[in-house]
Amino acid sequence: MWGGRFAAGPAAVMREINASIPFDKRLWKQDIAGSQAHVAMLAQQGIVSQADADAISAGLETIRAEYESDGVPVDLDLEDIHMVTESRLAQLIGPAAGRLHTARSRNDQVATDFRLWVRDAIDEVSAGLAALQGALLDRAEEHVEAVMPGFTHLQSAQPVTLGHHLMAYHAMIGRDRSRFADARVRMNECPLGAAALAGTGFPIDRHATAAALGFDRPTGNSLDSVSDRDFALDYLMAATQCSLHLSRLAEEFIIWASQPFGFVKLPDAYSTGSSIMPQKRNPDAAELVRGHAGRIAGCMTALTITMKGLPLAYSKDMQDDKPPVFEAHDLLGLSIAAMTGMIETVTFRTDRMRGLAESGFATATDLADWLVREANVPFREAHHITGRAVAAAEAAGVALDQLPIATLKQIDTRIDERLYAVLTVDASVASRTSHGGTAPAQVRMRIAQARAGEEA
Ligand code: ARG
Repeated sequence: MWGGRFAAGPAAVMREINASIPFDKRLWKQDIAGSQAHVAMLAQQGIVSQADADAISAGLETIRAEYESDGVPVDLDLEDIHMVTESRLAQLIGPAAGRLHTARSRNDQVATDFRLWVRDAIDEVSAGLAALQGALLDRAEEHVEAVMPGFTHLQSAQPVTLGHHLMAYHAMIGRDRSRFADARVRMNECPLGAAALAGTGFPIDRHATAAALGFDRPTGNSLDSVSDRDFALDYLMAATQCSLHLSRLAEEFIIWASQPFGFVKLPDAYSTGSSIMPQKRNPDAAELVRGHAGRIAGCMTALTITMKGLPLAYSKDMQDDKPPVFEAHDLLGLSIAAMTGMIETVTFRTDRMRGLAESGFATATDLADWLVREANVPFREAHHITGRAVAAAEAAGVALDQLPIATLKQIDTRIDERLYAVLTVDASVASRTSHGGTAPAQVRMRIAQARAGEEA
């Protein structure tokens, strides 16, 4: 395609290092869409004849059907998806095929194709995340009253509800969706027509191609258009943050599925057995989601570092933009689907959760708060008194609400029987009615708002 001034062909290793077709064949749909928009505009503007444009357009449709049924042929000599498609077009329609590349370059072509691909990827991820949020909402609603220990430092801290805990992940995924939505708005400008780097002298209509491809407008600087990969980085950064959330959720499942916790029974469909230990049921899917987060962050790092030293405009380094985005997208798609499936089908052992919530002195803060409220004790002093009550309960091997009133009065005379009402885990949870708190009434409100598509 570009061999006019070259006497000798490329070395075998040159052919191999240069070719991107093994991976950029994934852009075929976007490449054909971009070419269709381009050729229609060229005809509209009288830059190519309507007859040539019709032949090109029909040829591109034939190629679309071929790729659809047989896949894209990988020919390293043809380098990339743009050349593979153009050379097939030439086979199909003859020399008129050579007019398609008027007033464009592979530089604006690939920038356009890749944006279209990332835009589709964002739409796919957003749909997946919406489904995950739906699953979280359903399970949260089901368990809005189910008490479990809430942790800090992975130590029993205060009782919360499982519904509240699941809604925390709903909030994280909501931020992820908003990051992807943000990225989509920012990237939705069309680089086609920036040509190699400087624009073109042909009377093209960039607004027409932008509109035909669903972009909001054409990009405003031709140099930036062909060398900007922010959209890919935005995608990877949003994907990285999303994968961190999925990994944290996966980690909870891994901990909860362990025998000492026993908070969940993972569904058969998302567990594996051991080849030598018949009793085992391993949370492999969750572990792989946790592992994939590392790889996705690696993809983000790879492209970040690829881009960091590049002067304007296009450099071939930028061909390496695609593999990390494709890899991250595949891993993220699998992770979202696996976590959604797990959330939908996991069995929550709410009896175990309640048992542990009741055994960890998790209502100690409620005792301290009661002293502040009912006996006007300064919080720091109340904290001290409560510490003595916890020590007494620990020594007696009982829960706080099983300490006899005599013992409590010995610790502080201002304590009376009314205290017992706040020492149960249900009372503790029900009392946390501040905005965003774990009280079932609050969590129900958040769920209703989420279902109505409102902000918290
Ligand atoms: N395969 C190339 C890429 O993905 C297309 C652009 C080639 N442009 C060039 N000037 N060699 O980046």
